[in-house]
Amino acid sequence: MRRINASIAFDKRLWREDIAGSKAHVAMLRDQSIIPAVDAASIIDGLDRIAAEYERDGVPEKVELEDIHMTVEQRLSELIGPAAGRLHTARSRNDQVATDFRLWVRNACQEAIDTIRALQSVLVLRAEEQIETVMPGFTHLQVAQPVSLGHHLLAYYEMLGRDRLRFADTRSRLGQCPLGAAALAGTGFPIDRDSTAAALGFDEPTANSLDSVSDRDFALDYLAAAAQSGLHLSRLAEELVIWASPSFGFVKLSDGFSTGSSIMPQKRNPDAAELVRGHSGRIIGAMMSLMVTMKGLPLAYSKDMQDDKEPVFEARDLMILSLEAIGGMIETIEFVPERMRAAAEQGYSTATDLADWLVREADVPFREAHHITGRAVKLAEEQGRGLADLSLAELQRIDARIDERVYDVLGVEASMNSRTSYGGTAPARVREQIAAAKKALGL
Ligand code: ARG
Repeated sequence: MRRINASIAFDKRLWREDIAGSKAHVAMLRDQSIIPAVDAASIIDGLDRIAAEYERDGVPEKVELEDIHMTVEQRLSELIGPAAGRLHTARSRNDQVATDFRLWVRNACQEAIDTIRALQSVLVLRAEEQIETVMPGFTHLQVAQPVSLGHHLLAYYEMLGRDRLRFADTRSRLGQCPLGAAALAGTGFPIDRDSTAAALGFDEPTANSLDSVSDRDFALDYLAAAAQSGLHLSRLAEELVIWASPSFGFVKLSDGFSTGSSIMPQKRNPDAAELVRGHSGRIIGAMMSLMVTMKGLPLAYSKDMQDDKEPVFEARDLMILSLEAIGGMIETIEFVPERMRAAAEQGYSTATDLADWLVREADVPFREAHHITGRAVKLAEEQGRGLADLSLAELQRIDARIDERVYDVLGVEASMNSRTSYGGTAPARVREQIAAAKKALGL
């Protein structure tokens, strides 16, 4: 029974929040004359000493004390004697753990926002070096149109920006304090919930005691935000795996962020990227785990809810580690522009430019231009050549309206430079986006 009941092994991570919550509670009990001031003073002093002990030595793990709340209270009674017994007046572990966990998740949101921002900064600074670098843009992982590598990296800046907003949004719904809901029904003691809420940095107390102790939406919101962020990191990780493969050769991983093989000396493996890709599955799993835990629970508290913490802690650890590992990889990666350019040229990535040229310069309807271009690509393919390698005579045999000005758009740089619409890949546009991103990040 003791072993299945205990949560101390993981909820000890809440010790700072638990002590902060207890200090706010006891000060309120004193101010409301619910407990004597001398006992309140000795409890607060004792809690400070416990905090110093835990800071120095860590939290002792005794399964018979079950959880962090009992562990702190037990230590308090060892330190100050019977007055410790007054701390738990007008409160329950149910509102206590709900308060502690909310405080923890609130800090975790800020940490996530800061860590995501750090990765965004790395991406923007690397993108700034690669504005003019041409790479193939892909659809279906088939070469589509030439794009700027800087533009490609900035796509992840955008995704991460939305992730940051999701954590900010989660935090914005963490403004109510459940402390004082007690076990589930409130309390008959004349407590002041506004004062404990304010002391802990909340805007106001929660309005319904049943909801207060049984709500874990904030944890689910955090997990959903983490899952989405992990998913974005996994897509970037997947690109790094592909780019680093010898067949692509778009990047060289740094020694610091790659591993060798135990038997194949030539290998330089993208383990960190693969693990980020793998970890994202576990983060999504953590979200699923808590959703499934919660979905069948009647009001109010059920012990199943003790299982809320491990998925959140695991998701947090994996996400922060993944953000830092991807940041390290991107910071130290070597791009190989020659390989990217060659791949962009190989794939007839300027076919759309030929079609657009026919529309613009020869007034050909787009569908017909598309068909003419298809014939040009077919001819080039048969001869193992690029579009720009076809002679004017060859092109004119396909359609007589083509003239020598077409060569201005058949090169990959010309193609990239021409995509000047807002949000497009032309270096001029990318430069503007980088300037905006740097401003937003304070770089
Ligand atoms: N360790 C428990 C948890 O994490 C604290 C609440 C216990 N409450 C109870 N009524 N058994 O959920």
